[in-house]
Amino acid sequence: MMPFQTARICYADTLRAPFYRLRLIMKKNWKSIRLLLLLTIGGIIATVLLEAISIDVAAAAPSGDKIFTANCAACHMGGKNIIDPKKPVVGSKKLASKDLFKALLSKSTGGMPAFSKIAENDAALEALYAYVKSLK
Ligand code: HEC
Repeated sequence: MMPFQTARICYADTLRAPFYRLRLIMKKNWKSIRLLLLLTIGGIIATVLLEAISIDVAAAAPSGDKIFTANCAACHMGGKNIIDPKKPVVGSKKLASKDLFKALLSKSTGGMPAFSKIAENDAALEALYAYVKSLK
C-alpha cells in the first residue's frame, strides 16, 4: 500500500511544482508583471475604442461602391442590365438628378424592386448616386 501512496504524493507534487514556482516568480517580479498587465489591458481598450471609431466613420460615410455591390450588381453588373439590356444604368436618364434617382428607388418598376431603405437614407442615397454617376 505504502509505495503506491508515496508515488501519488510525488505525482501531485510534480503537478503543483510549476504553480509554486510561478507564484514565486510573480512575487519577485510583481511590479513588472503589473506594468505588463496594465499595458495589455490598455492595448485591448485602445483597440476596441479605435474599432468603434472606425465603425462610426463607416456608418457616417457609407460607400456607394459597397451599396451597389450588395443591392444592385446582381442585375446591373458593370452598370449594365441583365434583365432588360436596353435599360442599363450607365447613361440612364433616371440619373439626371438625385430626385429622379430617388423616385426610381422609391417604388418598383418593370422588374426592378424598390429600394426604399436606400431612398430614405440621404447619406446612402448620396453615396450610391455619386457611384452610379461615376460608372462608365
Ligand atoms: C432584380 C434586378 C434588379 C436589381 C437588384 C436592381 N435593378 Fe435597376 N433595373 C432593373 C430592371 C429590370 C430595370 C428596368 C426597369 C424598367 O423597365 O423600368 C432597371 C432599371 C434601372 C435604372 C434605369 C435604367 C433606365 O434608364 O431605364 C437604373 C438607374 C437602375 N435600375 C439602378 C439600379 C440601382 C442603383 C439598383 C440598386 C439599388 C438597382 N437598379 C437594382 C433590375 C434591377
